[in-house]
Amino acid sequence: MDYLEIEGGAKLSGEVEIAGAKNAALPLLAMSILCKGDIKICNLPPVHDIKTMLLLLENLGASYSYDEDCATINTDKLDKTEAKYDIVRKMRASILTLGPLLARFGHCEVSLPGGCAIGQRPIDLHLKALELMGAQIEIKQGYVHASAPDGLKGATIIFDKVTVTGTENIVMAAALAKGETKIINAAKEPEVVQLCEILNDHGILIKGIGSDELIIHGRDRALLQIPEITVIPDRIEAGSYLCAGAITNSTLTLNRVNHSHLISIILKLQEMGYNFDLHEESITIKPSPKITPIQIATTEYPGFPTDMQAQFMALALMADGTSIIEERLFENRFMHVSELSRMGAKISLNNSIATVEGNAQLFGADVMATDLRASFALVLAALVAEGTTRVHRIYHLDRGYDRMEVKLAKLGAKIKRLSE
Ligand code: UD1
Repeated sequence: MDYLEIEGGAKLSGEVEIAGAKNAALPLLAMSILCKGDIKICNLPPVHDIKTMLLLLENLGASYSYDEDCATINTDKLDKTEAKYDIVRKMRASILTLGPLLARFGHCEVSLPGGCAIGQRPIDLHLKALELMGAQIEIKQGYVHASAPDGLKGATIIFDKVTVTGTENIVMAAALAKGETKIINAAKEPEVVQLCEILNDHGILIKGIGSDELIIHGRDRALLQIPEITVIPDRIEAGSYLCAGAITNSTLTLNRVNHSHLISIILKLQEMGYNFDLHEESITIKPSPKITPIQIATTEYPGFPTDMQAQFMALALMADGTSIIEERLFENRFMHVSELSRMGAKISLNNSIATVEGNAQLFGADVMATDLRASFALVLAALVAEGTTRVHRIYHLDRGYDRMEVKLAKLGAKIKRLSE
């Protein structure tokens, strides 16, 4: 198994290219199930989750070719409707095939994803919404068996909680349903917006895009034709590199970003004292003479993203005072705290609230990545720790960060990928 070895203390400088957004690409790959003919999806990040989704589509009978950062997918011969446990357990986002498969074939069998390191993560809201659209759902032997032999029908859905993949699943199901579907309390994340915009540009009228109320006019199982699309930049990868600049107090430029997706992250960094130069598709972070402590509560977009909580916790360790970080979305998303503590961090936890003592003297240690974003937080801490840190279980990182050690090394970090 691979691990990362990082020597702390190096300043960073230079430019880094931000990849396409994993969380935007995954629903777009699932959307290929709604299409006929070839669909070319560009700016795909070369990360494991994307390969897993392509493998899942292939297992279902789709064909694809992958070249540079584009995949061309054809689902004309897709003839299986079972998303198997072996794939779903590797990547929860496989659940995104549920809505499209059911809408196109009138039935499907998708393995239940189960819990994960950051919490229980149920899919009850996805299932309840599909039932309102006329699906019959049964859970048998760990699988969701969904059927709607006469097709899905438009319905009014009120999500009890804002759910990103839940909204995406229902938008895709509604695209091929009969009649109009209204989603109230829809997610507004840029990844949801991109999916809606693409559908809207290719024959599915969607009103309210970017708001929490969507109205989708279904096409009653008439498949779509979408020749080519490009995935939006990854706001979480961008935010993570901004934190790398911030924690090492370096000047870094990120290229191929969309700042409008980064507002809550930039505002928090400005509160901490960092300055920025914004250009059309790039952003430069500049050092802060004094790092001010922060208060953060994670919430749905446009609020502060839970996917940046761990990285900001690492950064808060360098602040001049005590920061408070509240995790409101996932009950168990503080697994990185005990690993950061092994490096000398002083963080106390009270349910969903972490109190982070600044001015930390971190030292290198062997630490274990617990989930995708937590892995980056450990790398950030390692960049400023005294001595050598080895981050193990980096398969978590490989799920979602594009060649992270290569990008950081190019910026001047002393980081190597090694095998156990
Ligand atoms: C997506 C992102 C993930 C991000 C999360 C929150 C993808 C592939 N993943 O995950 O990176 O951390 O949004 O921004 O886009 N919930 C229920 N029942 C459901 C569905 C969700 O109770 O049926 C709860 C969850 O447990 C959680 C909250 O709703 O507390 C939000 O989860 P959700 O937005 O669904 O997360 P994902 O879509 O899985």
